[in-house]
Amino acid sequence: MRQILVTSALPYANGHIHIGHLVEYLQTDIWVRFQKMQGNRCLYICADDTHGTAITIRARAEGRTEEEVIAEMGEAHQRDFGGFGIEFDNYGSTHSPENRAVCHEIWAALRKADMIVEEEIDQLFDVEKGIFLADRFVRGTCPKCGSKNQPGDNCGHCGATYSPTDLVDPVSALSGSKPEIRAARHLFVQTEKMHDFLNEWTQSGTLPSESANYLKNFFLNEPLRDWDVSRPGPYFGFEIPDSPGNYWYVWFDAPIGYIGSTSEWCNRHGEKLDDWWKSDKTEIHHFIGKDIQYFHTLFWPAMLKTAGFTLPTRVHIHGFLTVDGEKMSKSRGTFVRASKYLEHLNPSFLRYYYATKLSAKVEDLDLNLEEFVARVNSDLVGKVVNLASRTAKFVSESGLSKSYPEDGGLFKTFAERGEPIAEAYEKGEYSKAMRMIMELADLANPYVEANAPWDLRKDPARAAELQDVCTVALNLFRTLVIYLAPVLPDLAEKTGALFGEVITTWDQAKNPLINRPIAAFQHMLQRVDPAKVELMITESREENAETDSAVTANPSWDDSAGALLANPIAGQIGIEEFLKVDLRVARIVEAREVPEAKKLVQLTLSLGGDERRNVFAGIKSAYEPADLVGRLVVMVANLAPRTMKFGVSEGMIVAAGPGGEDIFLLSPDEGAVPGQRVG
Ligand code: 2FM
Ligand code: ZN
Repeated sequence: MRQILVTSALPYANGHIHIGHLVEYLQTDIWVRFQKMQGNRCLYICADDTHGTAITIRARAEGRTEEEVIAEMGEAHQRDFGGFGIEFDNYGSTHSPENRAVCHEIWAALRKADMIVEEEIDQLFDVEKGIFLADRFVRGTCPKCGSKNQPGDNCGHCGATYSPTDLVDPVSALSGSKPEIRAARHLFVQTEKMHDFLNEWTQSGTLPSESANYLKNFFLNEPLRDWDVSRPGPYFGFEIPDSPGNYWYVWFDAPIGYIGSTSEWCNRHGEKLDDWWKSDKTEIHHFIGKDIQYFHTLFWPAMLKTAGFTLPTRVHIHGFLTVDGEKMSKSRGTFVRASKYLEHLNPSFLRYYYATKLSAKVEDLDLNLEEFVARVNSDLVGKVVNLASRTAKFVSESGLSKSYPEDGGLFKTFAERGEPIAEAYEKGEYSKAMRMIMELADLANPYVEANAPWDLRKDPARAAELQDVCTVALNLFRTLVIYLAPVLPDLAEKTGALFGEVITTWDQAKNPLINRPIAAFQHMLQRVDPAKVELMITESREENAETDSAVTANPSWDDSAGALLANPIAGQIGIEEFLKVDLRVARIVEAREVPEAKKLVQLTLSLGGDERRNVFAGIKSAYEPADLVGRLVVMVANLAPRTMKFGVSEGMIVAAGPGGEDIFLLSPDEGAVPGQRVG
């Protein structure tokens, strides 16, 4: 029996759970339920991530204490998760005495290992609000890739992490004012001291290969920066024991919350925390989104290793949710809160739909609303539940046959598929598992059609035959439900009640049930009503209308007419003329200074595969060559080569801005790959 500890990322206590969050919690819950059905000892641990400036801002705005805000949000989160059948073994809070104790322990270990340094640093201070501005409360231009309107801690575009003072043209998101720089003493973890360990650990099969490669190429081939883990008060968090007036930064105590929350569980169950977190027996599995992998794959293992805790066995990383192919949007009504969904639709629908879409790859998942309705109705209602609804009533008096009837090998085939389906679940390949289950359903339904129990029942002389056909159909149904049980616990429960035997383990699929009564058939799953989906979207749109207009007034946007006045729009051209320009996405794979030319950077651009272009770009005044490597740009790929003093330039990369330091390279949104045509 394996001993497995599973976590999902701790949701921030300053916002409600929405259908985007649910991708991760459902993905994790399915995995945990699967492990429990395999007979493994498995704990599902989570908590609210409660600290940081956001909570203080909200509490101030609402005239409440931070504790009141987090208590209310904790309840709301648990209600939403519960509504979706997400079953934690412990749902804690990072603001708990247990978490504080673990923070102290890890901190002491970091000190002992001489990993902490103190430095005076400049920090942005919002004079109007009287508060140091951290992370998400400053926006400005990313110092690494030049993307505008990025938050203060890491760039949503290129993934770089930095401190808020590194931002170019910072603006306080709280007041819209330009923040002032003030000096304060901060404590840093010297992650670079763990470089060799991290190099090895991140490449040892613990991460999806995309993530491992990314870290190897973009982070681990240069020294890791010290990580700023303290914030001067006032700050809602834990005060650092040996540095009065300073508090741990929210990202320090958030992952520690995984251990703190486990400690709460241990206290309740009389178990030892060390048996879970300092034991070779425990497998630790983190489920997270791709946006927070940097924290979980560099800082977190470094902290665990230094303090002697068990390292994660695997970090499962998923992509983001899109709805109908686009980012969730408040104005389109696709930013749907979990509670709003539950007002209108059955959680099983979403559990199943996400399962049909999830794989072990770090890729985005699209909720296509039309497909959602069609898929659930055709698979779950049409193929699975229908097997029972068309047969159970015919054996409500006779019960199941005394011995298992001849079925042409169907049950055997079903039982044998248990193993490959389990393997797919284990690997996180849920879409594959769902496909295999539906293939089985496609074998069961023709059996029912061919034997037409509805005709058999008209002839009393064929009662035994009817009982046999229903016994086969119901057993096939039950096997499907066992395989679907991690995804559809509610259906499994109802099926257990129908057969008078609770579904708890995977092995129950190995043997058919015979010679037992069948309970009166209760409705198991209604069809998805498209009108309810529409209503959910309409209501989400209406409820969010107010929030959206606030976004339009974002103080950090500089939308004056200056740029257009300086450079008016050129004369009109036809589409044919435009199409002559072949714009392509390209990746900068090398960038070098050109010693003889002050303004130029020599770039090697990859167009995918082995296609490379040498380009000289006049961007030296705005970009350091080292900062360019790895990023995507847009290039004019069919520009005639130009011989320059230093070599041949085979194209041009496109940028905006008047020149000098104000050059802004254009980058495609995430998801684009080298070689794609732009236009
Ligand atoms: O990104 C987030 O929503 C964070 N609250 C996740 C924290 S995960 C863990 F480290 F606690
Ligand atoms: Zn960036």
